[in-house]
Amino acid sequence: MGKRNLLNFDGLSRREFDGILQLAAELKRKQKRGMAHPLLAGKAMALVFEKPSLRTRSTFALGITQLGGTAIYLGPAEVGLGSRETPADCARNLDRWFDLITVRTFAHKIIAEMAEYSSVPVINALTDSYHPCQVLADCQTLIEHKGKLDGLKIVFVGDGNNMVHSWLEAAAIVPFSFVLACPKGYEPDATILNKALTNGAKITVTNSVEEAVSGADAIYTDVWTSMGQEKESQARINAFRAYQVNSQVVALAKKDAVVMHCLPAHRGEEITHEVLESPQCVAFDQAENRLHAQKAVMVWLLQGFATTVGKRKGLRIKTGSRGSRKK
Ligand code: CP
Ligand code: NVA
Repeated sequence: MGKRNLLNFDGLSRREFDGILQLAAELKRKQKRGMAHPLLAGKAMALVFEKPSLRTRSTFALGITQLGGTAIYLGPAEVGLGSRETPADCARNLDRWFDLITVRTFAHKIIAEMAEYSSVPVINALTDSYHPCQVLADCQTLIEHKGKLDGLKIVFVGDGNNMVHSWLEAAAIVPFSFVLACPKGYEPDATILNKALTNGAKITVTNSVEEAVSGADAIYTDVWTSMGQEKESQARINAFRAYQVNSQVVALAKKDAVVMHCLPAHRGEEITHEVLESPQCVAFDQAENRLHAQKAVMVWLLQGFATTVGKRKGLRIKTGSRGSRKK
């Protein structure tokens, strides 16, 4: 088996998904107790970002530093993926110097091309199609608040966007039920949805917020206009007006439901200030867990689960799931 990437959840087993989350929880405990191990000492990561970022950039850079490694940020002005240089050529330079390449870009095919040509693991830090690292941190947060993922009803209110696509894929790995309430014309990509359904995911797509949110364990929302869609902003505000997560909507969910947002939030649009600031909202826990979940992804890709942390935790992950071997 060659090196692994984390471009989306396609091909990720339940064992690997759980392994990453267990490792993330263990790394978080260790970090909080000041007992962090330099598991990635001497390793270097390139952060190739073509879109803005607060959380993702900070947590990847800090995460690898806490693990004993280092990161170098390469913004849009430096790299010019597909304009100054092809994604393939960019990857074939970076893999000579770095042990990991983390990329935030527009079209998913750009990162797919980089992963194909890179001899080192490539991590998706968000594309127009997926945001897998966010969903891993979100799942870690749900486990912290709900004790489990299996059997939860997770309801996403808003756009069938990159966040939703990663949730659809996660629903094909973990047996929770995922419900999307979105306006007509803003449904998720049919190929991604159908693949998840074929793989056994429990998914409902509806236009009714009330129907969706009833009995929810978690209500999730995201911006109506994603990065790169700014020209559509006014049309989207009009289309999504009835899809705001406000206190009336939250009241329809279970009493102990959590409210989730990947952030950045646009208060007064997809979520009210009141709900974002309410005790039910775990958005800042999600943000915190970006650090720990991504540290787990980096360790998994470079060392597999056979770390001292993993062994002590009793993780019984097949050696075949290790992600670091070069082509
Ligand atoms: N949630 C998230 O990915 O945030 P950033 O865009 O700030 O990285
Ligand atoms: N859907 C949003 C997520 C931001 C973290 C975007 O792509 O801009």
